[in-house]
Parts: sequence; structure tokens; C-alpha cells
Amino acid sequence: MKNILLCIFIIFGIFIFSGCNNKEKIIFTQGSDPDTKILIAYFSRAGEQRGFQRKTKIGNTAIIANMIAGKTGADIFEITPLEDNYPEKFEKLSEYAKKEKEENARPEILNKPENLDKYDIIFIGSPIWHEDMPMILYTFIESYDFTDKTIIPFYTYGWNEYICLSDKIRNITQAKEVKEDFKIKGLTAQLRTSIAQKKVDKWFDSLEF
Ligand SMILES: Cc1cc2nc3c(=O)[nH]c(=O)nc-3n(C[C@H](O)[C@H](O)[C@H](O)COP(=O)(O)O)c2cc1C
Repeated sequence: MKNILLCIFIIFGIFIFSGCNNKEKIIFTQGSDPDTKILIAYFSRAGEQRGFQRKTKIGNTAIIANMIAGKTGADIFEITPLEDNYPEKFEKLSEYAKKEKEENARPEILNKPENLDKYDIIFIGSPIWHEDMPMILYTFIESYDFTDKTIIPFYTYGWNEYICLSDKIRNITQAKEVKEDFKIKGLTAQLRTSIAQKKVDKWFDSLEF
């Protein structure tokens, strides 16, 4: 009986603990290198995805962002909406995102870093939504002066691998340099982690910065 009670207590404890974690989600994380001049800013949605049997616990772009962090010791900033009105169901989210795009919306960002002065290199990670970046990425890149920065865009996609985000980002930010996009299929990031890691490693080795 004692053992059963102990088990219930532990399971309940884990449940409460994970609930707290969600609420107090850390969105601007110090990387492993305290002197880093590299920031990884990304947007990603875990949950229902087209072509997936199950809901994802961590978004595809988030997985790639973490792989990059592992290689750089960079700080990570998860771009999170101030008001998260994105529906959970894929079809509903697709409609919602389409409307945001048609309206050229600029959804507000929660806890946006005040300035990016500390960083020379900024990786910007995005999923492809309706053949473009989600509108919240526009909010982010329009919020800062990137003229003395190098931007390295990366994206995950479902089926359109020929989208070019780097040209858009170059035009908007007038950054000192914008590298070509690194792109990887969301399914590969999510389900074939070792293949994804190899692709990230290969890309990383080819980067000069
Ligand atoms: C609203 C929405 C629209 C999407 N539109 C496209 C698209 O136009 N082209 C494409 O290749 N993938 C599209 N996808 C698939 C995502 O790009 C892909 O699943 C991506 O890896 C999701 O990244 P995340 O898990 O980091 O959010 C779309 C996904 C969503 C949710």
C-alpha cells in the first residue's frame, strides 16, 4: 500500500513539475559560451503536423536550432508570440496562418531582447508557412538594426524545398552579410535525427564566419 501511495505521489509530482515548466518557459537561454557573440533566434511550433502520425513534443526548427547551439555555444532565443492564438489542429493553424499572411500581420513577440548589440552573428530559424516565413519572423527581423551583423538563415519545410528566405531577409534587414539558407525537411529533423545532425555538421563545416 505504501509503495502504491509513493508511486501516485511521484507521478503527481512529475505532472505538477512539468506543468510549472510550461508556464515558466525560459525563452532566452544563455549558451555554453558566456562570451559568445552568436545568437540563434528561431520560431517553431510543436504539436500536430501534416504527415505525422503523432503530435511532436519539440518543433522541427527547434531541433535544428539546438543542434546549432551544440556546435556554437551560442545563446538561444525562442521567438514566442505575446498572445499565443495559434490553433493546435493543423488545418485550423493553416487557415489562421494564411489569414495572417493575407493581412500582412505583425504578431507581437513576448520578451523580445532589447537590443542585439552583443552579437555579431545571428542565426534565424523558421518553419515554412505558406511558402514563406510565419509573419512573426517579420516582426522579429523588422525590430532590429542588422546593418553590422551577419545573418545565417535556416528553415525546415514540409514539401517546398526551393523557398529562398535569404533574399527576403537581405532586402529587409540590409545586413552586412546574409548567408544562403540552410534547409532541411521537418520530417528528417524530427524522425531521422542522426541524418539531420550529419547535414547540420556538413553545412556548418562549409560556413565561413
Ligand atoms: C501553417 C503551416 C503552413 C505550412 N506551409 C508549408 C508550405 O507552404 N510549404 C512547406 O514545405 N511546408 C509547409 N508547412 C510545413 C512546415 O514547414 C514543416 O512541418 C516545418 O518543419 C514545421 O516546423 P516547426 O515544427 O519548427 O514548426 C506548413 C506548416 C504549417 C503549420
